[in-house]
Amino acid sequence: MRNLDENTITEAVLARHEHATDERLKTLITSLVQHLHAFAREVSLTESEWQQGIRFLTEVGHITDDKRQEFILLSDTLGLSMLVTAMANRKPASCTEATVFGPFFVENAPVYQNGDDVGNGATGEPCFVSGSIKGPDGEPVGGARIEVWQADSDGFYDVQLAGEDAHRARGVLHSLADGRYHFRSIVAEPYPIPHDGPVGMMLKALGRHPWRPAHLHFMIAAPGYERLVTHVFREGDRYLDSDAVFGVRSSLVAQWRRHAEGVAPDGTRMDIPFSTLEFDFVLSRST
Ligand code: BEZ
Ligand code: FE
Repeated sequence: MRNLDENTITEAVLARHEHATDERLKTLITSLVQHLHAFAREVSLTESEWQQGIRFLTEVGHITDDKRQEFILLSDTLGLSMLVTAMANRKPASCTEATVFGPFFVENAPVYQNGDDVGNGATGEPCFVSGSIKGPDGEPVGGARIEVWQADSDGFYDVQLAGEDAHRARGVLHSLADGRYHFRSIVAEPYPIPHDGPVGMMLKALGRHPWRPAHLHFMIAAPGYERLVTHVFREGDRYLDSDAVFGVRSSLVAQWRRHAEGVAPDGTRMDIPFSTLEFDFVLSRST
């Protein structure tokens, strides 16, 4: 095939995939090529803009390693992650909504018992978190695996701290037979997503801030139910309506109640102020 021009190139590329045996791959690449070409035509993409785009993606690749995933950050900030999450988690209105996974999940987090302090030395005001895990008919879900992770009061996850090998402010626990769970951690604070790389430069160039409203990550799994990946967001946070990664759902916003020094919900005598958070999750049934 020769002498292709701006009007015939798209069909020529698609025809080249005629013998692809993986039907799903063919569907994905066909649509991707169509949309990419349509984009270039729509904006009359110049050669220097094309080069700039290639340089940008190259930098995204260069800064990515096993601790930093700039491609996910790019997807998050362009709203693609939340779009895919929303499409993958259409569920009855009574079930807890899902939101983005984010790049700070770590495998093999320590296992705790209900009542333990998952903060494990992370900086921040103490917070006592409790609630329940239920199914769609209100049935308690005992033995659900609950994984939590959050940033410290400076806005950093343990994996972002140089020289920090311990797991802090993250852990796994299991709901009790009546579906309830409770643990101690620290108060969530807002934090900026990593913005010292190409994605940060992109946000700046677009007049966008990199902040996420304060939140606590949860991943909850139990046999017979869909795995739920979500956050609980802190009521009153200034970034609730401008989350850098578009993850906020009103149903996931909750009150962190602040208390003066005194007796905490677990009976611990606290000589400093502390907060409490109560949140109930409803899992959808797996199909
Ligand atoms: C997070 O909440 O951990 C997160 C999500 C998306 C991008 C960066 C961080
Ligand atoms: Fe987070």
